[in-house]
Amino acid sequence: MDDLLAPVRQFLHCETPDEWVEMARDPAQLSTLLIDHANCENKAALTAHSLVRRYCLPKGKRHLLPQLEFYRELDAIPEKAEILGKRTMGEASLTVFAELERNPLLFPMVRLIQEELHHFEQVLELMQSRGIAYGPVSASRYARSLLTHVRTYEPAAVVDKMIIGAFIEARSCERFAKIAPHLDEELGRFYVSLLRSEARHYQDYLALAEQYAGEDISERVAFFGAIEAELICSPDPQFRFHSGLPVRSDSC
Ligand SMILES: [Fe+2]
Ligand SMILES: [Fe+2]
Repeated sequence: MDDLLAPVRQFLHCETPDEWVEMARDPAQLSTLLIDHANCENKAALTAHSLVRRYCLPKGKRHLLPQLEFYRELDAIPEKAEILGKRTMGEASLTVFAELERNPLLFPMVRLIQEELHHFEQVLELMQSRGIAYGPVSASRYARSLLTHVRTYEPAAVVDKMIIGAFIEARSCERFAKIAPHLDEELGRFYVSLLRSEARHYQDYLALAEQYAGEDISERVAFFGAIEAELICSPDPQFRFHSGLPVRSDSC
């Protein structure tokens, strides 16, 4: 586990504060934590889906992209053969997938979409078994604040979105590891089981950002790293999976 986490911790500019862990392990916060976690998994899938849609296809063909449901039906890890061969597709979809095949964004993103949808379903099952209803929980400031810094022209915009994706995935991974020992056995085991894929997702996003930029992105990564750390370590009145320092504490 340490091997898996070392690059994640190195990538992030700060560790999750103990005060957040204290809050997250409080049984009174469990339903908020799980509902928000479910929302995050769903949003991760939707974000990747919209990146594929926006950046893999010419405008006139975007409407042909399969709906999110499609990814649930794909078998295992989407090797090329599985995407292009195993499915029964109409001619239009085959044309789209022939185009997608040429785009380096596709395979890591499709795998990511599948995995996030699977995580989403796993969280829902856990909630169901604990009698926690999937009610409305507003989103935290975290992703929204990061996204306000996305540049408005291409390819800078997609590069920034992918760097942000890398930070969200890395922070999720770090938090799963941090909180797992403090939860009950079933939840702790579940959170540890998510580490490997989240660590890969952060690396996939980072590699894609580099690929799309076609130049060194370390300055931009450092820029978002500092903003991300500020969001994690500054007081945040709202407790969520990616929230900052709980306001009842005063240090980070
Ligand atoms: Fe996930
Ligand atoms: Fe992920």
